[in-house]
Amino acid sequence: MIIAIDGPEASGKGTVAKLIAKKYKLRHLDSGLLYRLTGVNLLDQGITDDTTDTFVTAAISAANQITAEDLDNPPNNIRSMGVGINASKVAVIPDVRDILTAIQQNIATKKPGAVIDGRDIGTVVFPNADFKFWITASLEHRAKRRFLDYQASGRKDTLEEVTQAIKDRDYRDRNRAASPMKKADDAHLIDTSKMSIDAVIEALSTYINAKLANRVGKGQSQ
Ligand code: C5P
Repeated sequence: MIIAIDGPEASGKGTVAKLIAKKYKLRHLDSGLLYRLTGVNLLDQGITDDTTDTFVTAAISAANQITAEDLDNPPNNIRSMGVGINASKVAVIPDVRDILTAIQQNIATKKPGAVIDGRDIGTVVFPNADFKFWITASLEHRAKRRFLDYQASGRKDTLEEVTQAIKDRDYRDRNRAASPMKKADDAHLIDTSKMSIDAVIEALSTYINAKLANRVGKGQSQ
């Protein structure tokens, strides 16, 4: 079983994906982590200028070096704003996307299946996923959440800086030529702006259970 959960930064999709995976006893795969691992590799080498050929070559090489085990032991700064920005820069490179898409398909198709969160799971990585969700929230709510996360981890970024960084990343993710971030036509949309996490999980579960019951019903009547 494959459950695709896409959406923009700080929409809550990562938390939701983790909890839904636990509930349905599936693997959880955070596809953003693959892009972040590629981005942090370049940052460690001091490569941040995405207008150069060096950036593209280094990004392809970094993506090729990622193993499934790296996902379990990411470096401490993996969630930082700088790594997120570099991740969205490597994410525009088609060869990087192809390499990371293959890794995702390989991991997620192993039994018992997976809940994968990202930007292009329902459109490109698993267009035939059993369930597709688009999780979103207003820019204001997303920025506030990310700001509180950063504050809790002792970071000093202002709300304005966090809001601007989210806007920039949204722009890059939505407007890139290769697999831009977008809702799959058949994805179920949930706006988490005014919902508690419990309410979001309830909404996804209700949708999944109804579809599963429908499948069982159809199977029995054949
Ligand atoms: O989800 P997260 O914030 O960790 O993702 C970091 C960046 O990786 C995103 O801004 C996006 O540019 C890229 N990404 C992507 N496709 C995915 C997951 C992440 O392009 N499936």
